[in-house]
Amino acid sequence: AQHQNLITNVHNRNVTNLSGKWRYLTDVNRERRGYEKDMVPIEKWDIHEYNFPTSDWLYVPGDWNTQRENLFYYDGHVWYRKKFTYDKDENKRLFIYFGAVNYKAEVYLNDILLGKHVGGFTPFNFEIPDSLLQEENSLVVLADNVREFDGVPSFRTGWWNYGGITRDVLLVELNNTFIRDYYVQLDKNSPNTIKGFVQLDGQALSQNVAIEIPELNKTIKGKTNKDGKYEFKEKIANVDYWDVDNPKLYKVKVVSETDTVQDKIGFRTIATEGTDILLNGKPIFLRGISIHEENPLGEGRAWSREHAMVLLNRAKELNCNFVRLAHYPHNEHIYRVADEMGMLVWEELPLFWAIDWESEKAYKIAENMATEMVTRDKNRASIIIWSVANETGDHDARNKFLTGMIEHTRSMDDTRLISAALLKNAKKSTKKVKVVDDYLGKYSDIISINEYFGWYQGLPQIKDSIRWDIQFNKPFLFSETGAGALQGFHGDSLTRWTEDYQSYYFRETIEMCERIPTLRGLSPWILNDFLSPQRVFPYIQDNFLRKGLISDRGEKKEAFYILRDYYKKKAERNR
Ligand code: GCU
Repeated sequence: AQHQNLITNVHNRNVTNLSGKWRYLTDVNRERRGYEKDMVPIEKWDIHEYNFPTSDWLYVPGDWNTQRENLFYYDGHVWYRKKFTYDKDENKRLFIYFGAVNYKAEVYLNDILLGKHVGGFTPFNFEIPDSLLQEENSLVVLADNVREFDGVPSFRTGWWNYGGITRDVLLVELNNTFIRDYYVQLDKNSPNTIKGFVQLDGQALSQNVAIEIPELNKTIKGKTNKDGKYEFKEKIANVDYWDVDNPKLYKVKVVSETDTVQDKIGFRTIATEGTDILLNGKPIFLRGISIHEENPLGEGRAWSREHAMVLLNRAKELNCNFVRLAHYPHNEHIYRVADEMGMLVWEELPLFWAIDWESEKAYKIAENMATEMVTRDKNRASIIIWSVANETGDHDARNKFLTGMIEHTRSMDDTRLISAALLKNAKKSTKKVKVVDDYLGKYSDIISINEYFGWYQGLPQIKDSIRWDIQFNKPFLFSETGAGALQGFHGDSLTRWTEDYQSYYFRETIEMCERIPTLRGLSPWILNDFLSPQRVFPYIQDNFLRKGLISDRGEKKEAFYILRDYYKKKAERNR
């Protein structure tokens, strides 16, 4: 298995950020010169043709596609190099941590391989042994965004295949035995019970540990076992529950004999009861919007806390209490900002469209990605739904693969709801009655459907006569619905690509929603226009998918205000 020693809450540790300009070399022939055959460091490669000191640079974090014109469509190998000095305390351990590298990474320090990772949207870290550190260190990373049919996602996606070191790179200095991971959440069935674990990493694994929540006068004490793990389940009282209108975060201190970690954690329960979704025991309607991880202030991958603030403030302005962060785990900052702002979150694995469901390799990649996603984010109150897929066909191989993923995800965290963006049963559906009976619905807590009637099929008024036959007594939500419009292009409401058509689509969609008594939410597609490989229509799309309520230049379209006003009414009625 890939490394399973992921350090959590890494931004609150003793870190050195390696962001900035890194040298890079494209390796179009994927020759891997110097790193497989003769282990000659890249610098010593043929100095006239191929060496870092004279090469160009890229900003890290950042995708390469939007930093260099000639890398816009590049699917391939890029070698990055960063030189750094580090004065390490000999009584400490040093790790290198990557927020994400899309899609495969190989990490070398001073010409020695530290480790490899597969998966473009979850973090990983490797320990740096003292023996490897030098006066000046050469960190070399191979980033490989070549798409694979048995990859996760597979070869075809609905978003740009941004390659590179797309998130933070941090040196993390830790004590010889440190607190690598911990889980502190409310028990899913009991708002007066707190449960979780503390996991140490190092030699001295049997230690006294404590979880302190000063504001609740609560200290949970215990002793880790020989594997360095302490599990707890304790009564707790007087909790000020985290809620979208009261995003209360408690200072939580995890203490061992050799390490201390501080975090801010919200306590809430999320459950379903029949067709209702209950937040802290009260029914809630999810007033949502879907969001891709795209920089709202420029182009390419978003990765910073500032990007997250802009994206979630736009959702707040839309009167949302919920965001579907599609179609893959986003960077860690956005979940922490959602915790602080009081925004509910759907987090998703990129099991998107046609995955190679028979492939054991694909399953292992997905399983590891789910482990990294849940390990990183399991203490975030804002996340209420883990989604295991988007628009995948209902057949045996897929059902076996995804029920396995659901079991694996629940085994790591049983406090959150599980869902997936499903499709109607086209064979059983008629023009007027749309049947939803996807096999996966049996294993999902929420039935979520992507629908585009009035955009991909017919005109918006087609929705007047549509009825939904949801064959599960579970909460139902539209995980996608939307229509394209070029911002600033106006005409009549039946002219495609005008803001007027998009507005008409949303008015009809809202009326349809109001006719579905079991509907408990929607997350229309999508907050912002974004780069997508299929959307080439010149002068209208120009590589951008135009279903955003806001253009890629940050300009709102008419439909933004239609949805915003609808959500304002829903908030007042809370239904
Ligand atoms: C699918 C897919 C989205 C895509 C959308 C669309 O529903 O989930 O990623 O952008 O279709 O057609 O716009």
